[in-house]
Amino acid sequence: MDYDFATLDFSDESETARARRSAWLMAVQRGFHSGRPDEELEQRWLTHVRADDITCTGAWLPEGEFGAGPVPVATFASFDKTLNAGHELLPLRMITDVTTSPAHRRRGLLRRLMTDDLTDAVSKGIPVAALTASEATIYGRWGFGAATFAQTVEVDTGPGFGLRAFADPGRVELIEPPDSWPIVKGVFDRFHAQNRGSVEWPQFYEVIHTGAYDFDDGGPDKKLRGAVHLDGDRTVDGVVLYKAEGRGENRKINVTEMMALTTSAGLALWSFLAGIDMAKRVTFGLAHPDDPLRWALTDIKAVSYTANGEFLWVRVLDVVTALAARTWAADGQVVLEVEDDQGHAAGRYLIVTDGGRGSVTRTEEPAEVRLDVETLGSLYLGGAHVPALERAGRLHGTEEAIGRFARMADLAVPPYNLTGF
Ligand SMILES: CC(C)(COP(=O)(O)OP(=O)(O)OC[C@H]1O[C@@H](n2cnc3c(N)ncnc32)[C@H](O)[C@@H]1OP(=O)(O)O)[C@@H](O)C(=O)NCCC(=O)NCCS
Repeated sequence: MDYDFATLDFSDESETARARRSAWLMAVQRGFHSGRPDEELEQRWLTHVRADDITCTGAWLPEGEFGAGPVPVATFASFDKTLNAGHELLPLRMITDVTTSPAHRRRGLLRRLMTDDLTDAVSKGIPVAALTASEATIYGRWGFGAATFAQTVEVDTGPGFGLRAFADPGRVELIEPPDSWPIVKGVFDRFHAQNRGSVEWPQFYEVIHTGAYDFDDGGPDKKLRGAVHLDGDRTVDGVVLYKAEGRGENRKINVTEMMALTTSAGLALWSFLAGIDMAKRVTFGLAHPDDPLRWALTDIKAVSYTANGEFLWVRVLDVVTALAARTWAADGQVVLEVEDDQGHAAGRYLIVTDGGRGSVTRTEEPAEVRLDVETLGSLYLGGAHVPALERAGRLHGTEEAIGRFARMADLAVPPYNLTGF
């Protein structure tokens, strides 16, 4: 079938263009098994599209075909923000709203939309692309590797809960999320600047974190609560947003966001959460992969980590720019060969590291370490280590070259991202 590929025009206010926009959103909701959009959802989506300058593309059936009309059979969206690569906030192509109608699956629609979008990112000089995936087997073929990880932490905050002594010169205070966006965003901006792997928030985070609208249930999120940690100088250095769920014995506190800029802010926020009455459990789905909480508790069994999953998927498009912006652990040099079916990252690169910074140039020298671009995506932010990738058969070279590359590339602290999109 000859599908019509097109991009939505958000400046066109004609009836046809507006019908296409509504139908595009409808197709996305359908693809993710969510409810049909109402007027409020559509308005919220339009605000997000305009604020983040999102490009919404899709495939439509040709005129005259049964089923032709404003509803696309495939959708794809992308926009550009920043990624904390270690030394720099790099421009990042963010991909979302990927759906194909079950009646048109496996005919290359996603392939076409993805290929075009990555080519567009390269033409605009964007060095890295990323997405958060609902299925882990789809995106490796386009060079995306699982790059940041998070775990679900569940804490028993009953009478047995206790933290070892820690010095906290500050204190915790409640906030009202509808009035507190500048504070929450202010902490996030510092978190983003400070944490390798962090992705800048899209506009809809304001809607979610102020409780203005609940995208799952529709309508305002009236149960969202919040607290901040103030340091010794009364500057906010930590935020937690949470909701109480369930009743009676089953009530628990579900943390929807937690950002701590210092260790004491993080522990003080956990101490605060544990002190909330009429709830004996607290959960958070995006704990740091190297979460310190278990080591801070008097009873290590009070905490359990129930899921440890991949979160951000990264695709390196421009190896020279991307690797020069990352953090390096030790001085050294290596020639890295990257295989990339789509060509964007393919080639051999001389990496010379000095004082934590890398300089990267294309080279004709023989390759010392070889990997494909998907593996490079996993290695890029430090979420995977060279020896593990080598043992998995994902990276090749002599033992000496791999050991040298591992000393240069492997970072002690894992990357940490809180942004889903
Ligand atoms: C994922 C989805 C968009 C794929 O769209 P599609 O148009 O059928 O994909 P294509 O025909 O372009 O397939 C391209 C390649 O991806 C593979 N692929 C597609 N979907 C896959 C899946 N769910 N799991 C594993 N591989 C998949 C195809 O087999 C094909 O591989 P090949 O080129 O090596 O033969 C579609 O299945 C969908 O809408 N799923 C529900 C929503 C969803 O999961 N979206 C992703 C959110 S992150």
